[in-house]
Amino acid sequence: MISEKRITLKNLGKINPESIDDYINEGGYKVLESAVNRNHIEIIDEMLNSSLRGRGGAGFSAGLKEKFTSESCLRCEQKYLICNADEGEPGTFKDRIIMENDPHLLLEGILIAAYAIGANKAFIYIRGEYYKSIELLEKAIKDAKEKGFIGKNIFESFFSIDVEIRLGAGSYLCGEELTLLESLEGKRGYPRIKPPFPAEKGLLGFPTLVNNVETLATVPTIVGMGAEWYSKIGTEESPGTKIFTISGDVTNPGFFEVEMGTTLRELIYGLAGGMKNGKKLKAVLLGGAAGTFIDESVLDIPTGFDSLKEKGAVLGSGAIMVMGEDKSIFDVTYSIMDFFKHESCGKCVPCRIGTAHLVNLMKKAKENPSEKKAILEEMLSESEYIAKTSLCPLGQSPILPIRSLVRYFKDQF
Ligand SMILES: Cc1cc2nc3c(=O)[nH]c(=O)nc-3n(C[C@H](O)[C@H](O)[C@H](O)COP(=O)(O)O)c2cc1C
Repeated sequence: MISEKRITLKNLGKINPESIDDYINEGGYKVLESAVNRNHIEIIDEMLNSSLRGRGGAGFSAGLKEKFTSESCLRCEQKYLICNADEGEPGTFKDRIIMENDPHLLLEGILIAAYAIGANKAFIYIRGEYYKSIELLEKAIKDAKEKGFIGKNIFESFFSIDVEIRLGAGSYLCGEELTLLESLEGKRGYPRIKPPFPAEKGLLGFPTLVNNVETLATVPTIVGMGAEWYSKIGTEESPGTKIFTISGDVTNPGFFEVEMGTTLRELIYGLAGGMKNGKKLKAVLLGGAAGTFIDESVLDIPTGFDSLKEKGAVLGSGAIMVMGEDKSIFDVTYSIMDFFKHESCGKCVPCRIGTAHLVNLMKKAKENPSEKKAILEEMLSESEYIAKTSLCPLGQSPILPIRSLVRYFKDQF
């Protein structure tokens, strides 16, 4: 019988998220205290050796990103850390669970990572509709300032830092790290060309570390328990735990923190209680709108950033949307295409026109069911073209669900 392994959610239900004393009583801020008394390179090495991969979706090495930011522009008088709490991927709500239940764990992770890279200013860029998370984080920052964990010369070290919250305004694209930087700078949410990467030239042109909430909330555990301990959890290619959010036709939808390598079958049929009302499983949309449709044949693959790729699937943010036999894959695809059209910022032509064209093709397929298969092929070539020519990763997103449809559900489209 599969069970959860709670590391990032270890304090869930145990502490009052409004109480800094509760967090301290569970050993909170102890890792920060020891970290600021260590050489920052040791902290980065710990992160590198843990092999933690960013939980924002792309799975890039968290330690490498810290190393790049730390080593970039050594003469810069300023470096920034940004916690990406925009959480816009449909079906994803793991970051909200962390922020609503353990805001100090996230703050401690932010402070340790900021110390490691040499940043003295951190921002939490948070989805504007996350009222409760915002309120809790504001209180957490205030309380941490009063206790001296945020401010000047923390634990009598040379490390000083300020943390500020900034609200997103509902744009999906503003969760993309370079667009987020534009938004933080007070500009319209348009993407920037990559490279330069934020580690080299980020907020206001200074080296910037951008990490997801779940990534940063894992930092205190890794630095506290050590890389060796952490890297033994999960799988070799994707160590650690992952919070999955399961929605749709399951008996017990919700969030579950498990070791990487846990299969989707264990998650869906074990933790989420199986299919609702005895329905048969038709498909799973894994990773949100910028994710992939998969069928039964993928359910027994151990989850991981690379293992799923071999099956043409992406782990992404860890959203699992389960569709029973009565759900229409066509309708879900239609709403995904509508979503991309709506969220395309319009800056580059291929994405602006291309995402609209994909919706037009869906409309045409709806009106002419006998042409659906041919239209799906056309959508595939269209989305390949958009992916190759767009300015930012939003244009590279529609190809993911479309390619997976062609692979697994050509007949059911
Ligand atoms: C369209 C788009 C939206 C994104 N939205 C988010 C988001 O809401 N939260 C997030 O952490 N990452 C999001 N990302 C990924 C970020 O660009 C970036 O990779 C991530 O914040 C890096 O953090 P990590 O290294 O800890 O995973 C998005 C990417 C794209 C292309």
